[in-house]
Amino acid sequence: MKIGIDKIGFATSNLYVDMTELAEARNVDPNKYLIGIGQSKMAVIPPSQDVVTLAASAASKILTADDKDQVELVLFATESGVDNSKSAAAYLSELLGLKANIRAIELKQACYGATAGLQLAKGHIALNPQSKVLVIGADIARYGLNTPGEPTQGGGAVALLVTANPRILALEEDASYLTKDIMDFWRPLGHMEALVDGKYSSNVYLDFFQEVFSAYQSKTGLQLQDFAALLFHLPYTKMGLKALRLAIGGADDQIATHLSHEFEAARSYNRQVGNLYTGSLYLSLLSLLENSDSLRAGQRLGLFSYGSGAEGEFYSGILQPGFERMLCGHAAALKARTKVSVAEYEQLYKAGLTLAADIDFDWQNDASAYVLTGIKANQRQYLAK
Ligand code: HMG
Repeated sequence: MKIGIDKIGFATSNLYVDMTELAEARNVDPNKYLIGIGQSKMAVIPPSQDVVTLAASAASKILTADDKDQVELVLFATESGVDNSKSAAAYLSELLGLKANIRAIELKQACYGATAGLQLAKGHIALNPQSKVLVIGADIARYGLNTPGEPTQGGGAVALLVTANPRILALEEDASYLTKDIMDFWRPLGHMEALVDGKYSSNVYLDFFQEVFSAYQSKTGLQLQDFAALLFHLPYTKMGLKALRLAIGGADDQIATHLSHEFEAARSYNRQVGNLYTGSLYLSLLSLLENSDSLRAGQRLGLFSYGSGAEGEFYSGILQPGFERMLCGHAAALKARTKVSVAEYEQLYKAGLTLAADIDFDWQNDASAYVLTGIKANQRQYLAK
């Protein structure tokens, strides 16, 4: 039985900051951000949005009433959780109007979480082929204003509907994975912003990629020419480019050129959003599917997932007939966002760091269908408009 991704939805806020303007405000050559980091725009998440509302927006783009009836498991991957005990999946299930007799939990392993969700969903479907699993990867990346990590912030959510006989990508059996206790990026309890050893994290990412990709190749016998595209977790798009360059180093020119061409399609959306941690690899998948001019059913995609701390996995999937018809197109929504100035971004950023027990947010000016209106007596107040 084939199991995999039947539908993909994505949502971010309708605000962004321009990376040239951010570079100028930080006294940095804009090409450092545009080329050196590989980011053109960065999503700005207002306080009336969090991982729950972003996930609700992403999921509502793909779920029909029948899907909602068949979802038995919600796996909400995030490292930007809104509560230490109650899962974001519980809030989300209510906001989406899912039935009550489901399992709904939150998963965490930095940016790797959504891949864990996808592989666990596969197991669930193998045992329960009639059911569907909703996997979410939702995060808000925060390093702090004026930090080296600042140009690699962003935020948003990806929703994956995992089913038997999927219509987009069937997961293949083989995968290779690796976990090591590493201090490259972490966020201690009580911290709203991540701590990071930036250069070290980028080096560990590349080491993990090489190790799991080579293990995957040894296990399967597959070579570069067997992949129509390679996809990467994209904390900033230059990171994926560095990994791709390692993969294609010494490869036949035609294969290297083809994979590099596909990589440009795969980083188009990420370049305009920034890091959404758990969702980044899957935003890149969506970007490839919606922007590539050469993908065909039956082709194999290779996916590298990395989460600091650290865990990496390389796995693959086969594009299904008619996958194009399952895509809803996200380019127009990204283009229609409103640009905020650097000063407005800084003000929204600071407002989003609140730990207040009682507060109202300016949700009336938030165009999203799902908003966080405020916090009352430490209880989050969500609204589906
Ligand atoms: P930095 O020190 O500000 O930047 O930090 P830099 O000086 O290394 O410059 C970056 C690149 O820009 C360099 O290219 C420069 O040469 C180039 P590279 O050597 O890397 O190829 N550059 C220019 N290019 C063109 N024109 C110019 C110019 N000037 C410089 N004028 C760093 C960069 C990424 C370290 C920082 O932003 C950071 O710490 N980011 C956060 C950490 C991160 O994203 N790590 C990635 C791997 S870990 C991961 O992926 C997991 C994660 O998503 C979290 C999770 O798992 O939950 C982060």
